[in-house]
Amino acid sequence: MEFLGSNILSIDQFDRKDIDLIFKTADQLFPFASRQKITRVLQGAILSNMFFEPSTRTRISFGSAFNMLGGEVRETTEVEATSLAKGESLYDTSRVLSGYSDVIVMRHPLAGSVAEFAKASRVPVINGGDGDNEHPSQALLDLFTIKKELESHKKNIESSRIALIGDLKFGRAVHSLCKVLMLYENISIKLVSPNELKLPNFLVGELKKRNISILETQDIKEGIADVDILYMTRIQEERFNNSSEASKYKGLMSLNQEIYTKNCEPNTVIMHPLPRDSRKDANELDEDLNQNPNLAIYRQTDNGLLIRMALFSLILGVADKIEDTASSVDWFSNKS
Ligand code: NCD
Repeated sequence: MEFLGSNILSIDQFDRKDIDLIFKTADQLFPFASRQKITRVLQGAILSNMFFEPSTRTRISFGSAFNMLGGEVRETTEVEATSLAKGESLYDTSRVLSGYSDVIVMRHPLAGSVAEFAKASRVPVINGGDGDNEHPSQALLDLFTIKKELESHKKNIESSRIALIGDLKFGRAVHSLCKVLMLYENISIKLVSPNELKLPNFLVGELKKRNISILETQDIKEGIADVDILYMTRIQEERFNNSSEASKYKGLMSLNQEIYTKNCEPNTVIMHPLPRDSRKDANELDEDLNQNPNLAIYRQTDNGLLIRMALFSLILGVADKIEDTASSVDWFSNKS
């Protein structure tokens, strides 16, 4: 795809070459994300970070990524704080905001809403999660993490064995991850969920069409055996009619160190898009795994910064100018 000026709305936009370019750019940005070097390559540029659903990582990492490239960030975090609460259409909000910004990141509870918003925008729009539909930047950072983790065990994405566990029906992060995994050969995927929260049929069909071997199970012990990657997810409570319906499924797919040791191959990588629900009734990823070196959840969040910096650099056309604008930072060498 042509990155310059493009929206990032769905994983469907990318082919393998695009993914390789995003990952190569992300690697080049490592010294900047880790503050060994700074750049002001986006000086003067403005990001509108519009989050109409709760978010910690996605919102702050998009904002930090933009700041680390030298740009400025404007934020809205509640529908009530914008004119959407007064009945303004997404079209009008988009048309107006795009006059104030150079790029917009948007998260919204309705599937398809970010694409609708993007139609009216005169600047690129990035989907930060639209309802239960997609979360493309999360899938990119997840795949980047899968690649790095597997490489550290002398494996690669091709031929990898991945278990997706939890709420596969409503989890937009898994939906986008499935789509990006379809670009690779010889992958096998275990879909581990309660029967009512299975991956939507159209995605299972697409995976099968691409010759990905699929095993669907409700048994977490069967699901986590003989895989390279465990990708745990939270029950997406906010997508259920009410919280008591969601609570029927909480705690059914829980991983802790004991279950891991008994059932998993050594060095099985543990991932989660976060937030993990650490309340007792849910606890899909027990905190007793925190010292497990294969727990990759914080490497995932660090990688999110690199991927989001890469996306901004590519769609705003500055990826090849970053090195020329780089300088070192005095305060970094003083940092303990
Ligand atoms: C995910 C999301 O919002 O879809 N979180 C995130 O962006 N890292 C997953 C979730 O909320 O469970």
